[in-house]
Amino acid sequence: MFPTKPILFIAVFSLVETFSFADVDTFVYGGCSQPKYFPGSPYESNVNSLLTSFVSSASLYTYNNFTVDGDSPGSVYGLYQCRGDLSSSSGDCTRCVARAVSRLGSLCVGACGGALQLEGCFVKYDNATFLGVEDKTVVVRRCGLPIGYNSDELTRRDSVVGYLAASNGGSYRVGVSGGLLGVAQCTGDLSATECQDCLMEAIGRLRSDCGTAAWGDVYLAKCYARYYARGGHSRANGYGGHQRNNDDEIEKTLAIIVGLIAGVTLLVVFLSFMAKSCDRVKGT
Ligand SMILES: *[C@@H]1O[C@H](CO)[C@@H](O)[C@H](O)[C@H]1NC(C)=O
Ligand SMILES: *[C@@H]1O[C@H](CO)[C@@H](O)[C@H](O)[C@H]1NC(C)=O
Repeated sequence: MFPTKPILFIAVFSLVETFSFADVDTFVYGGCSQPKYFPGSPYESNVNSLLTSFVSSASLYTYNNFTVDGDSPGSVYGLYQCRGDLSSSSGDCTRCVARAVSRLGSLCVGACGGALQLEGCFVKYDNATFLGVEDKTVVVRRCGLPIGYNSDELTRRDSVVGYLAASNGGSYRVGVSGGLLGVAQCTGDLSATECQDCLMEAIGRLRSDCGTAAWGDVYLAKCYARYYARGGHSRANGYGGHQRNNDDEIEKTLAIIVGLIAGVTLLVVFLSFMAKSCDRVKGT
């Protein structure tokens, strides 16, 4: 009787792990610069060695920056940032960065610069330096469906977002209230003041643009802030995939009902035909 409990616990635990790692790998955005380099140029090998450095460094540090010097204008600059809860020692940061680098490689073939954000990590390279430069450009802003003016929900949202706004928060911040979770992250090249400034911009947009939405994401070039229901996927109750799944479900149900009606009709026709022929048999 002794092993059942631990086994159950391990099974549940590994399920939770699997789910959370699926989230880490979820694609958020990616983009490439217009200018292209010549294939086979020294710049290309500089980009490749920079991206390789990201992956090897991620097993030691959750943030790092690199510059690969080339004859001007051949230098390339880059950084990666893992979300604060992913550790280097466990290999989670490396796995995320490796995935991001490989997706960036296929997304931005030949581009002088590119950036890609997965839920668990961010990678970026360019031929102009952007390291240590604050950049509040809005890259992604999306909100869930409105939950209406339910004051409990709104209070929870405000307190979660309030935690994220606390100026002593550091470059990775988490806020929890009831079932709601808030997460904020700056890239490690920003100073504490710059990080705070960047996050206040993101949080301000979250408050103003996402209004009474059930969840919200604001990704700026160097920081992001988001809130969503704990446990459920962030987009589950928004206007994303779930809505389409519902429609699919409705279509499937309709198809089944139509099929059933057709089947029953055929059966009734068949039975009445049989009854008639039986009558005829009896009659003769
Ligand atoms: C980056 O590369 C593009 C295209 O080759 C070039 O026009 C631009 O001047 C470069 N920028 C820097 C800072 O080298
Ligand atoms: C880049 O990394 C070096 C060490 O690897 C560090 O001294 C420097 O402060 C970093 N720069 C930024 C902008 O993070």
